[in-house]
Amino acid sequence: MAKRIEVRPDTAAAAASADRMTRWLVVVLAVVIFAGGLFGYDQGVISGALAGIKDTFSLSVFMVQVVTSWVTLGALVGSLAGGAMGDRIGRKRTLLIAGALFALGSLVQWLAPDAGILVVGRFVVGVAVGVAAVAAPLYASELSPANFRGRFISSYQLAITAGIFLAYLVNAQLSASESWRLMLGAAAVPGLALFVIALVAPESPRWLMTKNRRAEAAVDIRKIYPQIDVERQLDAIHSALHEEEQAAPWSEIFAKEWRRPLVVAVGLAIFQQITGINAIIYYANQIFASAGFATEAARAAVTTWAIGGVNVLATLIAIAFIDNMGRRKLLLTGLIGMGVSLTAVGVAFQFIAPSGAVVSATGPTTAGIVTVVALVVFIISFAFSLGPVVWTVINEVFPARIRGRGVALATAVNWGSAYLVSQFFLSLVEGIGSSLTFFLFAMFCAAGWVWVYRIVPETKRKSLEQIQAMWSEKASSTG
Ligand code: BGC
Repeated sequence: MAKRIEVRPDTAAAAASADRMTRWLVVVLAVVIFAGGLFGYDQGVISGALAGIKDTFSLSVFMVQVVTSWVTLGALVGSLAGGAMGDRIGRKRTLLIAGALFALGSLVQWLAPDAGILVVGRFVVGVAVGVAAVAAPLYASELSPANFRGRFISSYQLAITAGIFLAYLVNAQLSASESWRLMLGAAAVPGLALFVIALVAPESPRWLMTKNRRAEAAVDIRKIYPQIDVERQLDAIHSALHEEEQAAPWSEIFAKEWRRPLVVAVGLAIFQQITGINAIIYYANQIFASAGFATEAARAAVTTWAIGGVNVLATLIAIAFIDNMGRRKLLLTGLIGMGVSLTAVGVAFQFIAPSGAVVSATGPTTAGIVTVVALVVFIISFAFSLGPVVWTVINEVFPARIRGRGVALATAVNWGSAYLVSQFFLSLVEGIGSSLTFFLFAMFCAAGWVWVYRIVPETKRKSLEQIQAMWSEKASSTG
């Protein structure tokens, strides 16, 4: 009996500390989900807003592309700045700034009196997207327990797709011409939410240790992991940092020893974009208009469900398989699906109007239906391969010493490529026609397949140290 009474307080204390840990992990997860969700929302919303913006400001094709693509240009700048900011002012303050910029940029878009100010708003939102895209996964990887780390990074990709889907749902609801303001401005609310969550979220103890703020680091570790031996944990972080201390300058990223991981990360970042995903995410409505979906409601429905909904579902499935099937197999299979479906879209467009004009006022033609089916196959193939796998590999191939900068560089290259695709997609369609444009994306899939087959090694179930050792072996064996 007496024994029982003694045990109870311990059990209660353990339950309370488990509760506290769960609460803080939910906060960390919320940061990741809001950052990814905002990224996705801002990617997806433009597809439905474009028609209204074009009406309001009478935009040329060139300006339509500028309005679309300046988010990605801002994100390129933001991702380069995000790594350095995170190191200098801390992960938490970097995320606070990202949240505030999201809200500010969204408000500017909402109130924009002319196309110039709208582009400024798009750029500011883009910077926020880029900063968050580097800071949020970095923050999560430093605060999540090792056995949840994979799932935390996957939640980021899932949140991106959920954000895109939500944007499409909003687009479908608000199709009147001036409602684009509300569509773009609405992101101010979750932007503020990210700001508030980041305000209560703990700072990364690992970052605090780099600034010799051990006492504060101890407080934050205790908040999240009340049961662990805080001093031992801090010593472990200290010695890991000490090993990394011989400062790694930017130039080390380009050192011969790390050329392979750099080529793998940057190459994957490029192939993820030049195979056309964002041409479809951004311009889905216009593609479906060309394929014969004559009414705005029909276009909105097919974009929402065939692209947005399928993307979320397929990503969910991908997360279940990603660790078992291996990165290479997923990439190689996905690229085949993407290449074949893009070829089918290219062929279908041969039967639509070469100019890309709407050909049927009565509804989708056979070629239009083929286009939808092929694009669904494309989205599924992307969602289980290049979508999540590219971000996973980028985050695991670099050695700790250069990981932050390596990830920032690969992320910036990814946004740079997204920028080029979104800036020139419509011009390409105008210049060489829809068919050839989709064939070009399909050719990049074929090139990507050969490249992955020859260059990307399997990293499944390898520890980060094993991956690092693998590069050293390869460098010495190739001289
Ligand atoms: C890509 C984004 C893309 C999204 C679509 C992400 O992995 O980086 O550019 O819009 O997937 O789901």
